Amino acid sequence: MSALDRVDALRREGEAAIVAARDTDALEDLRIRYLGRKAELPLLLRSVAELPPEDRGRVGKAANEARRALEAQIEERGGALAAEELQIRLAEDRVDVTLPGDPISPVGRLHLITATRREIEDVFLGLGFTVAEGREIELTYYNFDALNHPPEHPARNRSDTFYVGDDVVLRTHTSPMQVRAMEAQPPPIYINVPGRVYRPDRDPTHTPQFHQVEGLAVDEDITLADLRGTLLTFARAIFGPERQVRLRPTHFPFTEPSVEVDVSCFNCVDGITAGGERCPLCKGTAWLEILGSGMVDPNVFEHVREHGYDPERIQGWAFGMGIERIAMLKHGVPDLRLFYENDVRFLEQFG
Ligand code: DAH
Repeated sequence: MSALDRVDALRREGEAAIVAARDTDALEDLRIRYLGRKAELPLLLRSVAELPPEDRGRVGKAANEARRALEAQIEERGGALAAEELQIRLAEDRVDVTLPGDPISPVGRLHLITATRREIEDVFLGLGFTVAEGREIELTYYNFDALNHPPEHPARNRSDTFYVGDDVVLRTHTSPMQVRAMEAQPPPIYINVPGRVYRPDRDPTHTPQFHQVEGLAVDEDITLADLRGTLLTFARAIFGPERQVRLRPTHFPFTEPSVEVDVSCFNCVDGITAGGERCPLCKGTAWLEILGSGMVDPNVFEHVREHGYDPERIQGWAFGMGIERIAMLKHGVPDLRLFYENDVRFLEQFG
């Protein structure tokens, strides 16, 4: 075969191989095979001078053209293959940042009692109260005696209170923290005490365990008017800006005078609903009872006199409300027991 034919053959072979190359690695091998330092075509070009003089021009020209043609073809095919490979990599590595995380974790929510407790705490924190927590297993001294309950008081009956021992009970209210907090801190004191309390009752409006929030404010010149303003602010924050409050006289052993506090019903006007019916929430009375309260009885201060509570110098008020009751009124929960059955169909409606 003449040198010229060999150049032609190499060029055609190279061109066909480049067209068939499947990826840039294969193309790189072909570049070495046809254009590398030891490849046949460049060797041939370098030895043109050894050819007979009449062949040199034509063979040299053809070999040069073949080399440039193969170089150009490799460049072009290389560009196309690289672009294809990039597309494949982009498709394979694709991350959709709009997809939810994996594993998808369900979003929880607060139990309505927890949410309501926090809502109440927030209102009082905003008014300058601090939050304190007491103990659920309490001495009868704090639960009853220091709160002015005489030994014959009916609440002390074994049928009305869970006794752990002769002088130890599951607290029946959050009020014992009034005395404990005053023992721990001299006046002035402004505290809010949320927590669990226990009584042996079970019916649609009572469970043996429920929740209360106690409030206590003691200072040098604090009055029932401050209580009224504080509870009005509370009622409006929880039940809406139109609410009014009213105080009705009643009796508690540890306050004098004692009041029950009502908030104006948010479900009706004067006891009549928008549909013209007697309001089922307030039973047509236009008022909802929300808590018990009163001026702290001087007899209670006597128990903490040595801690700076001289009833001649200071006075204050206290209140106690049921968290479940506030949540039931606000959200129209018809049965207290729903709070403790933990049926997700109930729980999912809140929070
Ligand atoms: N502890 C009372 C109860 O559980 C509620 C109460 C009434 C709390 C009057 C008070 C208060 O602090 O002053 O029924």
